[in-house]
Amino acid sequence: MQRTLTIIKPDGVKKNIIGEVISRFERNGLRIAALKKIKLSKDGAKGFYIVHKERPFYESLTDFMSEGPIVVMVIEGENAIYRVREIMGATNPADAQIGTIRKDFADDIERNIVHGSDKPESAAFEIPYFFSQIEIL
Ligand code: CMP
Repeated sequence: MQRTLTIIKPDGVKKNIIGEVISRFERNGLRIAALKKIKLSKDGAKGFYIVHKERPFYESLTDFMSEGPIVVMVIEGENAIYRVREIMGATNPADAQIGTIRKDFADDIERNIVHGSDKPESAAFEIPYFFSQIEIL
């Protein structure tokens, strides 16, 4: 059993597809172990994406991630990190496979609807960024 941190980003919340996104994970046999709707501050977004601080898109990405509410979730299942990433599709929707969340809903490489931890080490940082142990069930 593996856990991954997944976010429905401000563009996904604005498009009113929270239920649609969650359904895709559930239909694929994954389980929502924790969930909440919050709004990140600019500093909160910068802290979450600290690994990207040297990237040219860091400022723009953290502006975007703090522009409106997001839904943060812990998703659980066998091989959950890989499976969530498959259901989301490639970071750039132009490269994403048909039937993935990003292909169906994302506008561009930055406003790409969802985030999922890319590896176990990332999940180990990202899950406690939003959830305490007693919130994960
Ligand atoms: P995510 O999976 O949340 O991980 C980092 C995020 O940075 C990514 O999704 C995109 O939202 C954004 N991102 C990645 N590459 C680029 C890029 N080349 N230009 C702008 N934003 C990017």
